[in-house]
Amino acid sequence: MRLQCVLLVFVLLQFGVIDCRYVSWLPDVLGTVTNKTTQLTNYVREKGRSIKHFYVENVRNKITSYFGINNKDESEYSGDDKQVRIKNKFNEYISEAQQNDNKLFDVIASHQLEYKCSDDDPSILMTTPQLIALHGYSAESHTVVTDDGYILTVHRIPYPKKITNRIIPRKTVLLHHGLLGSSADWIIAGPEKGLGYILSDAGYDVWLANVRGNTYSRAHVSRPSDSFAFWNFTFHDVSQHDLPAVIDYIMDVKGWDAKVNYVGHSMGTTILFALLSTKTQYNKILRAGYALAPVAYMSDIKSPIRLLAKFSNNIEFLMKLLGANEFLPQNAVLRWLSKKACEINNFEEAICENSLFVLCGHDEKQFNRSLLPIILGHVPAGASTKTLVHYAQEIRNKGRFQQFDYGAEGNYKEYGTETPPEYPLHKVTLPIALLSSQNDWLAGDADVVNLYDQLSNPIEHYVVPLKEFNHIDFLWAKDAPKLVYAKLLQLLEEGVSNNYNMDIENAII
Ligand SMILES: *[C@@H]1O[C@H](CO)[C@@H](O)[C@H](O)[C@H]1NC(C)=O
Ligand SMILES: *[C@@H]1O[C@H](CO)[C@@H](O)[C@H](O)[C@H]1NC(C)=O
Ligand SMILES: *[C@@H]1O[C@H](CO)[C@@H](O)[C@H](O)[C@H]1NC(C)=O
Repeated sequence: MRLQCVLLVFVLLQFGVIDCRYVSWLPDVLGTVTNKTTQLTNYVREKGRSIKHFYVENVRNKITSYFGINNKDESEYSGDDKQVRIKNKFNEYISEAQQNDNKLFDVIASHQLEYKCSDDDPSILMTTPQLIALHGYSAESHTVVTDDGYILTVHRIPYPKKITNRIIPRKTVLLHHGLLGSSADWIIAGPEKGLGYILSDAGYDVWLANVRGNTYSRAHVSRPSDSFAFWNFTFHDVSQHDLPAVIDYIMDVKGWDAKVNYVGHSMGTTILFALLSTKTQYNKILRAGYALAPVAYMSDIKSPIRLLAKFSNNIEFLMKLLGANEFLPQNAVLRWLSKKACEINNFEEAICENSLFVLCGHDEKQFNRSLLPIILGHVPAGASTKTLVHYAQEIRNKGRFQQFDYGAEGNYKEYGTETPPEYPLHKVTLPIALLSSQNDWLAGDADVVNLYDQLSNPIEHYVVPLKEFNHIDFLWAKDAPKLVYAKLLQLLEEGVSNNYNMDIENAII
């Protein structure tokens, strides 16, 4: 696992915010900043030992089970007995292999089938279009290049599963995932519960965006994806370049009379507010915005991300701490863990290892455990450290929704002022609905209410009627269709009808 990743989880745990099993052996690093190198080395060493131990345990268990010795029996056999037993078992395998003309390994490995678990499901590591196709829908991939050279992949479910004429509906919705997410967020929950499918079934042409830097948009016309130049962006750059490029592309495909509905989750809402307040023409281009777990002001934050806030004026230190380029990559260990989640049989362990849950919290009641392997297979999909720092700065600056803070000198160079410009939310004129919840670690009550007050064309502020509902429940909760999507569909259909002249005309006729 990359050092930065280890470090962050560690830093977050360090503050005692998350009650994980790891807490007990985490050393006190930030407590003594001067002595942190030694302690970090120890920590990383310890972590390495633990992973190694885990591997060894796994292999050992497998071998003992291959040979028909389970742990319970183990104590009842002396060393000699065990050896005899293993030898006999091994001979059995050999004769069985000879009899059936099999390879020895196949005979032994076939035992694995007895321990088959859902993690063998190949869908865990499937891409978004593969999953969509697997679920029986049509899938498309589109490539969009931004004006600053990032190569984005936009996925699409063009028409409902059930229709036979394959005519693409006029009703269009663009879904934008949040921090660390991807287009897969909207379909991971499957055909019954995934918002992407629910909207498709309701007759929408569904587009699924992917932010620069994530699994599907990790390319640039000239910058290598492992360079700082590539990762030198925050949600501001996404709002100024990615979002306009994707919206313009959809308008090109569908014609300029198309009215695109925008549904965002988490950072997917931040970028909408940043876009609409700066490139105001998009208030006219889109039909309406629907913000799930909206994040703009950040004064009321429970997420451990707030613990980074105190360092956010020391960008250099944070970049060093988190890695200057990518924050928590979709790396081999996480993938491996996602495959093994069921084998580990330790739910908490898998949750604690995953940055998304660490940052956004976890709601036991609404979480569907059988989705864990596929979720771990897709998140975190990638985010820049600079984006995290940007959020951390907002928290530090009493929740001000503003552009990246480079420090007085840097700001002067970048913006011509000593402080970064605030996003002028009063310029947002698009009709917007906010859908929030009370147990949201990132979108606190006070901030959402404050945001709603700023909107000049509000549709509704809907609060999910379940106390425990949290930030990521908007994507994968067992009852998300009932608690959120039903309301969202209703708002989509009728919410802005007075803004939608066609509807009024039709209604009068
Ligand atoms: C750093 O920490 C280690 C143990 O964690 C301790 O033995 C050592 O004396 C410390 N060094 C300094 C310079 O404080
Ligand atoms: C990073 O981005 C900022 C703002 O766009 C820019 O001023 C700076 O030169 C960039 N640095 C590098 C190394 O690309
Ligand atoms: C949990 O997820 C599985 C896999 O997608 C699904 O079959 C099941 O219906 C879900 N259960 C609930 C209660 O949502």
